[in-house]
Amino acid sequence: MSASDREAIWTFVGKKDDIIRCKKTTTVVQGRDVLVIYREGVLYAIDSFCYHSGGPLQLGDIEDVNGKQCIVCPWHKYKITLAEGEGLYQSIDPRDPRSKAIWCSKGVKQRTHSVQERDGDVFVTLSDLSSKVESDYYQSKKYKQAMRATMKR
Ligand code: FES
Repeated sequence: MSASDREAIWTFVGKKDDIIRCKKTTTVVQGRDVLVIYREGVLYAIDSFCYHSGGPLQLGDIEDVNGKQCIVCPWHKYKITLAEGEGLYQSIDPRDPRSKAIWCSKGVKQRTHSVQERDGDVFVTLSDLSSKVESDYYQSKKYKQAMRATMKR
């Protein structure tokens, strides 16, 4: 089913003022753990667990990387763009070791979702789940149960 075939289900995730005050909040949308972030006037929604190894992105800092707002995973410091879910990395030209490192994209690794505000209330609808994104692995029931048990310790 494509995104255009399915009817969007918008789930209330909180009051905009509360999300602005907290800067980040985690929620569950149709069984999926989603992180909602407010940064410089924009709301974002992404899968809560990092595509690399399931790190808890709600504990990550937000940074501007090469003009893009990114969350920095607290486990191994991978940088993920909030708007697109791209994994970013730095690279130099291997033929010129004196070249300056530049930011490059690995492509979309972290699933992002649509978020909108209506009259002070914030809603999220999941993106089209028909194609795979690497962060999908960490949304499995088995993985999430193990993660919650770890975070309670
Ligand atoms: S788990 Fe996020 S960078 Fe490794």
